[in-house]
Amino acid sequence: MEDIDRLLLKLKGYYFDHLSVDIGFIENLDDFEIREDDVFIVTYPKSGTIWLQQLLIPFFEYNFQKIYLGKRPSPGLLSTHLSYYLVPRGLKNKRAKIIYVYRNPKDVMCSYFHFEKNVKLQFTRTFEEYMILFLEGRVLRSLWFDHIKGWYEHRSLFNIQFMMYEEMKKDLRGSVLKICKFLGKELSEEDMDTVVRQATFENMKYDPLANYDKIITTAYGTNVKGHFLRKVTIGDWKSHMTVEQNESFDKIFQREMKDFLLKFIWDV
Ligand code: A3P
Repeated sequence: MEDIDRLLLKLKGYYFDHLSVDIGFIENLDDFEIREDDVFIVTYPKSGTIWLQQLLIPFFEYNFQKIYLGKRPSPGLLSTHLSYYLVPRGLKNKRAKIIYVYRNPKDVMCSYFHFEKNVKLQFTRTFEEYMILFLEGRVLRSLWFDHIKGWYEHRSLFNIQFMMYEEMKKDLRGSVLKICKFLGKELSEEDMDTVVRQATFENMKYDPLANYDKIITTAYGTNVKGHFLRKVTIGDWKSHMTVEQNESFDKIFQREMKDFLLKFIWDV
């Protein structure tokens, strides 16, 4: 585990990936211009970020290139994994809307493990080792518990809607309706059908854009083995974790999430 510091870069108490982080950008993030019609997707990694993007794209003229070039389209759809205390001031003033997607952390951990293994060639951890790192927050984007608790406990600062990955999976249409209500948008039945159809796993599975193929190969090279869209199940952790691992996870979860109000779905 000694190579952690080589792979990760801690800035303002939060782990970034030294390959992709723009230190100047992070340091000046507080002043990043937030527009009233911007919508932010906020997630801890592997919680359904791309899925939300796919759902929301029809609402926006979405173009990553423009964001990188600084010519942001308006309204803008932006995604971030940042912790609540790192985001621009304008968001804390409720200037823009935020959709926070969360997923049960055992499935997050398994999805993250496969992602790291497939994408990063230098990744040599066993699942057992990875679980320790995940539960200590010694992974890219730091501790899952801090992320969700930070956002939820400071929700009154933000204009924020919490969405659960598993609920989206069980009832995608109902979830889109909830998002529409939050964004103040109305969709015709026909548009609703299109949005839902485009965001199904079957439609996204082989879409290079939805799998971030270009971004991943630019950052990590062309030997990447896996896809962003992997298994898409609820309760995949059951095929990864031993009884003992599950018990020790539960113990930590209960300690960390005591009195936490949001509910979780652990299996189908
Ligand atoms: P799995 O690795 O468990 O399959 P993120 O976009 O935040 O990195 O999250 C990735 C996870 O979201 C992956 O989980 C991926 O398969 C899942 N996902 C992406 N699109 C999905 C969809 N249309 N339906 C359900 N899950 C989806």
